[in-house]
Amino acid sequence: MDLKSHIRGIPDFPKPGILFYDISPLLAHPQAWRHAVETMAASVKEWQPDILVGIESRGFLAAAPLAYVLDCGFVMCRKRGKLPGETIGHLYELEYGSDAIEIQADAIKPGQRVVVVDDLLATGGTMAAAIQLLRRVGADVRGAACFIELTFLGGRDKIDAPVTSLMQYD
Ligand code: PRP
Ligand code: MG
Repeated sequence: MDLKSHIRGIPDFPKPGILFYDISPLLAHPQAWRHAVETMAASVKEWQPDILVGIESRGFLAAAPLAYVLDCGFVMCRKRGKLPGETIGHLYELEYGSDAIEIQADAIKPGQRVVVVDDLLATGGTMAAAIQLLRRVGADVRGAACFIELTFLGGRDKIDAPVTSLMQYD
């Protein structure tokens, strides 16, 4: 199945000069989305995860059905201030300024096998930050999975774990 035919490139979003890879048509097409999830599940299964961690917000859309298919737990890695109770945060640098992500302090037990999931890998900054945070709480990070990889940005080189992606753009 040609999954790329369900990805829409939107120029100049969110800023002039950026081509935004929109997964909305893929999500809206049940057969294509099922195919994408099942193909990704087959790759992620190799890493034998206990838990899939989805990165807010589009990473949730990718991680939740994968966790369901693979019979894994699902944990949210959220932007700052969104999770209740005790949380552990991680500050990371963006192109301009910085941002923070958090997980609940008791979300991962030390040694649990975790795969981090996002919709898209661009510079790799978000995924690298999530992996650092998960290692701080003792997770055994088995790999990182994304549906779209912008290979021309070299994000994979920032990820200190195996990376799998379904569609690559260069
Ligand atoms: C996008 C995308 C990834 C991240 C990739 O999320 O969903 O999470 O950027 O970029 P990077 O590899 O350069 O870090 P965004 O921050 O736009 O937010 P959203 O998922 O909430 O839409
Ligand atoms: Mg995102």
